[in-house]
Amino acid sequence: MLLEASNASKTFRARRGGTSVDAVVNANLQARPGDFVAIVGESGSGKSTLARMLLGLIPATSGSVALDGTDLASMSKTQRIRYRRTVQAVLQDPAGSLNPRKTVGRIVGEVVRLHNIARGRDAVVDTVAETLELVGMVPAASFLGRFPHELSGGQRQRVLIARAIVLGPRIIVADEAVSALDASVKAGVLQLMDDLRRRLGVGYVFITHDLPVVKKVAEYVYVMKSGEIVEEGTKDQIFTAPEHPYTTTLLSAAPTLAASYGPPE
Ligand SMILES: Nc1ncnc2c1ncn2[C@@H]1O[C@H](COP(=O)(O)OP(=O)(O)O)[C@@H](O)[C@H]1O
Ligand SMILES: [Mg+2]
Repeated sequence: MLLEASNASKTFRARRGGTSVDAVVNANLQARPGDFVAIVGESGSGKSTLARMLLGLIPATSGSVALDGTDLASMSKTQRIRYRRTVQAVLQDPAGSLNPRKTVGRIVGEVVRLHNIARGRDAVVDTVAETLELVGMVPAASFLGRFPHELSGGQRQRVLIARAIVLGPRIIVADEAVSALDASVKAGVLQLMDDLRRRLGVGYVFITHDLPVVKKVAEYVYVMKSGEIVEEGTKDQIFTAPEHPYTTTLLSAAPTLAASYGPPE
């Protein structure tokens, strides 16, 4: 299975009088299940726009996003629903991804019902509980009735991951999913994501401005600047022999691994 952006571009049209923004320009990117692909770049470089295109939330202005060669733009409604399950999002919790008025059981249970993963109250609760266990929220029963504000930041992020993996995705697009977390909590959530990769074979398109995190977890890295992917390569290539001057600048401006990720064990 291959998720692929080919010369994908996104221009946000100007409102009357303003200028239009070329948020993403001719992006080429590939991700497969089991991959840990990162997109890095400073704020405003187009990372989230590319993420939203990969998720099918906004259409490309030109070029394409395709799964196994089928262009998102040409998919039928049924194909699109399947795509939504196959390519799931994990966003940053402070972006309001969790409804404060719903319990954890309901937040995860709703997508289980919506996508017919399980039918009937007991089966839904069982599915939700199993998934909470999978993301390290144990005992699951103690979390089902809790509201987001009764959870820690790391636990809320785990709920977001649970809500994504319960659908059995093959690829998760994670946009700044750990960026707001404290160093030790961040390490725990990254470890979970890597465990899920091994156990479920899920792949990640992991978007962050946090280079030490990329150094820790990514295998392949795309570097974005002003809407363009200016460099790509294996993590080792990017960190030890960057070719683009922008990558060098990005690396030299990055905090140390210890500062961002916590001290080594
Ligand atoms: N809905 C939108 N309408 C207009 N401009 C947008 C919109 N979303 C993003 N942009 C612009 O596109 C550029 C890239 O933004 P974004 O993809 O959010 O970058 P990043 O995630 O790397 O910070 C920025 O200049 C931003 O202001
Ligand atoms: Mg962003």
